[in-house]
Amino acid sequence: MAIRRVFSLVVGISVLCLFLCVSSSKLRSNKKWHFPKATRKALSGYDYKTYYFKQQVDHFGFANADTFLQRFLLADQYWNNDGGPIFFYTGNEGDIAWFCNNTGFMWDIAAEFKALLVFAEHRYYGESIPYGSEAFKNPTKLNYLTSEQALADFADLINYLKSSIPGASQSPVIAFGGSYGGMLAAWFKMKYPNLVLGALAASAPILQFNGITDCEAFNEVVTQTFERESAGCVSNIRASWQLINNYGMTDAGRKLLREIFHLCQPLNASSDVDTFKDWLTGTWVNLAMVNYPYPANFLEPLPAWPVRESCKYLSNPATSQGLLPDIFAAISVYYNYTGQATCLDINQQGTSSLGDMGWDYQSCTEMVMPMCSNGVSDMFEPMEWNFTQYSDNCYKMWQVKPLLDWITTEYGGTSLESASNIVFSNGLLDPWSSGGVLQSQSRSLISILIPDGAHHLDLRSANVQDPYDLQAARVQEVNILKNWLNQV
Ligand SMILES: *[C@@H]1O[C@H](CO)[C@@H](O)[C@H](O)[C@H]1NC(C)=O
Ligand SMILES: *[C@@H]1O[C@H](CO)[C@@H](O)[C@H](O)[C@H]1NC(C)=O
Ligand SMILES: *[C@@H]1O[C@H](CO)[C@@H](O)[C@H](O)[C@H]1NC(C)=O
Ligand SMILES: *[C@@H]1O[C@H](CO)[C@@H](O)[C@H](O)[C@H]1NC(C)=O
Repeated sequence: MAIRRVFSLVVGISVLCLFLCVSSSKLRSNKKWHFPKATRKALSGYDYKTYYFKQQVDHFGFANADTFLQRFLLADQYWNNDGGPIFFYTGNEGDIAWFCNNTGFMWDIAAEFKALLVFAEHRYYGESIPYGSEAFKNPTKLNYLTSEQALADFADLINYLKSSIPGASQSPVIAFGGSYGGMLAAWFKMKYPNLVLGALAASAPILQFNGITDCEAFNEVVTQTFERESAGCVSNIRASWQLINNYGMTDAGRKLLREIFHLCQPLNASSDVDTFKDWLTGTWVNLAMVNYPYPANFLEPLPAWPVRESCKYLSNPATSQGLLPDIFAAISVYYNYTGQATCLDINQQGTSSLGDMGWDYQSCTEMVMPMCSNGVSDMFEPMEWNFTQYSDNCYKMWQVKPLLDWITTEYGGTSLESASNIVFSNGLLDPWSSGGVLQSQSRSLISILIPDGAHHLDLRSANVQDPYDLQAARVQEVNILKNWLNQV
């Protein structure tokens, strides 16, 4: 998940199967469900089939009868159709196949639970786009990109699966999700307790909202994750901003910045320097988010413990080459670990399948997560949270004004007492843990902390380099799921 920065209007710089591939046709409920024996080799090694389900564009009104096709992935090879549960991934802001690829935990435990796996794509992402190419050109066509509509899609899809798959009607459903998908998993359990038995909400910052979490908190966690490697790393990054500002003031300085950082484009004006600093900030944030204990390719191909690798260039006082070349070397761990990058593009934060446009719009409507920095308890340039400015920028970009407090009204903020059966897991290296539920709220609202974990590390597949605390967290998660299922 990316964060929307106040100063940047550049989108994407923010900062956080088959029934033989039944393409473009709604699953027909009157047709007998049938699982082909044919080989189902999936490229990722994860073997699933892709389907499309016809959804209402607007679940909350009657004037608009438009529909769209929602993609979902289904894996039934582990499923016991006589009582086995349905593990349902509540898709977030990107291509569902990419989340499916990166949620190995569900695959790892599917056989033990004899579970049916379903990965449902979020509307306006991947292939599930109401109004297709028109969607992002017209505010009235984008109007249906909300978390409430997405949850209603999941609800209708579950009802449809239960009514059409033989043996599924009584299957208990467990929702899984990471990041925004984790928020959706938790909210899904709260809003549709009739459909979901429990939820595993990994790295779900449901408290990263106005009046609940301090706007500094996120950047403080980023800083602590770097501090864990070395204090010098943090002080060097903190010192770099002033240097960049100095260079940024003149044409000659901006030319040097471009040379030092191997940028694809020239920095023409001081506004480009702001974009450049936003991009650097986003890079540090992303490094902390994906600070995984083994080489992984989530946002970018990276080595194990990328923050450590990055800080190797910054732990001492600046080398004779100077601080900025050291900063460049440090961010090259993120952008050029493979050695293939020809230049660095300040309009790009990664090669992931995240739908940056859609998330930018959501950040400009419901998902307003206040962020700020002070340069003292964090390593960034001081930047105040200014909702007026944020809102003005949103209006320029999308012709909509954000609602600062709606999410808390809709989902309850810290008032979780009426909810049950949710696991909130958080890796403490992950900046988003700042808005996570870090304390158990009741016997069935359980917080699991993973001190050595980054962004939803627990949802990834098991790895020999998994830290002990992660292994323990997964054992606990499995036991909790078993408890819930045993109570059915
Ligand atoms: C999923 O993984 C496979 C194999 O690694 C890859 O070919 C495919 O492009 C991935 N899909 C996405 C959307 O990342
Ligand atoms: C600077 O101007 C050039 C030429 O117009 C353009 O190609 C480039 O993208 C601009 N740089 C940035 C960072 O926008
Ligand atoms: C990426 O790394 C390779 C190998 O070290 C290097 O030749 C290339 O210049 C680097 N690319 C950038 C954009 O710095
Ligand atoms: C917030 O931004 C608005 C619009 O850009 C500006 O007029 C106002 O002075 C800012 N407020 C503060 C406290 O900086």
